[in-house]
Amino acid sequence: MHVNSNSPITPMTARRGRPLAGRARVPGDKSISHRALILGALAVGTTRITGLLEGEDVLNTAQAMRALGARVERTGVGAWRVDGVGVAGFAAPAGPLDFGNSGTGCRLVMGAVAGCPISATFDGDASLRKRPMRRVLDPLALMGAHVIDAAEGGRLPISLAGARDPMPILYRTPVPSAQIKSAMLLAGLAAPGVTTVIETEASRDHTELMLRHFGAEVKSEPEGIHGRRISLTGQPELAPSNVAVPADPSSAAFPMVAALLAPGSDVFLPDVMTNPLRTGLIATLREMGAVIVEEEVRHDGGEAMAGFRVRHCALRGVEVPPQRAPAMIDEYPILAVAAAFAEGTTVMRGLKELRVKESDRLAATAEMLRVNGIDVEISGDDLAVRGRGHAAGGGLVATHMDHRIAMAALVLGLAAEKPVTVDDAGFIATSFPGFVELMRRLGGDLA
Ligand code: S3P
Repeated sequence: MHVNSNSPITPMTARRGRPLAGRARVPGDKSISHRALILGALAVGTTRITGLLEGEDVLNTAQAMRALGARVERTGVGAWRVDGVGVAGFAAPAGPLDFGNSGTGCRLVMGAVAGCPISATFDGDASLRKRPMRRVLDPLALMGAHVIDAAEGGRLPISLAGARDPMPILYRTPVPSAQIKSAMLLAGLAAPGVTTVIETEASRDHTELMLRHFGAEVKSEPEGIHGRRISLTGQPELAPSNVAVPADPSSAAFPMVAALLAPGSDVFLPDVMTNPLRTGLIATLREMGAVIVEEEVRHDGGEAMAGFRVRHCALRGVEVPPQRAPAMIDEYPILAVAAAFAEGTTVMRGLKELRVKESDRLAATAEMLRVNGIDVEISGDDLAVRGRGHAAGGGLVATHMDHRIAMAALVLGLAAEKPVTVDDAGFIATSFPGFVELMRRLGGDLA
């Protein structure tokens, strides 16, 4: 694996060329894939998963589930079988759990381990070692887990002792984060009574939906104007379930924006998950003037999905309100690229959380645009991109171990006047294996 095996750094260049055309299914949703493996491992019996994202982040979670005692087997392309050990049934792993580049894998498994009477060491790559973990460790400590050892600032590597008698608590998350909420709900599975998480801005609800799919009792009620109060009844017997993973809207975002920007393009992206807590980018692109048509709408396993037809379109600058951030938190780098090709200024507000992603994504996004001749400004937590309908390109983009910066920069290169090069395309494999091949099949010039 790229992250763990010193594989060579792979620069890559994207050039403007033909229109993009054709049908392409992007890989399975990353959030759903992590959760299917973890809930499968906490159920008693056999869970079968189809369409699993076989990217490095998710493969690391699969490996962690094995190390914690579940049987996890690949039975075909995207087809996986998980034989779970039951709620609170994890066994102490023989060595450290390595989550590579993945904050989601690491934080969710911390929650699941916090509800078990075992200790485990969590580690990851240089990017993950920089990311804040206290946001998850604080509520888990209130539930009875404790940190045995951590690097400075409560960062990885971290040794965590799970609770012998986990306590259900009521907790208000300090930032809207599905990872904090999910870690608490996974720990709360082992606690007697009701664990309640209150968030002032609703974050993605895949954990709640999938917990219900596996038979747990989860209530979700509105809280304030934009928030939610989520309550889980602890100590359920999770029933093994089948999960069909829909295509990842955060991955579909890249060919979608590429098709909007490259003149003459016409692309169809089937089976993309349309959970409203994930589709902020589509709402924003539509406000910018994009015509994105939904076809083949259907439901599967508690989640809705649709095919998206996207054609080249002229875009205009818009203002993106801070309340929309949770529903498009991973999409700002590619939205910033779309904004560069729009006419007029796009202002994206309330991007504080971008600073603690796989990189400081606010700075990395601004830098990606700046080195390609685009006028961009950060003020406080806001990002303004002054679009002129076209972009110079010609830059070398530092990806900072961030897959989404790499993909956004390559999409920029497909539409800019001069080629765009990224210093390392290797991290794309964490979330979107086959990205380069898929974009080439649609006609993109990536080399
Ligand atoms: C994720 C939640 C988001 C997102 C990440 C996946 C998840 O992080 O950025 O890529 O699957 O729960 P936060 O919840 O920390 O915002």
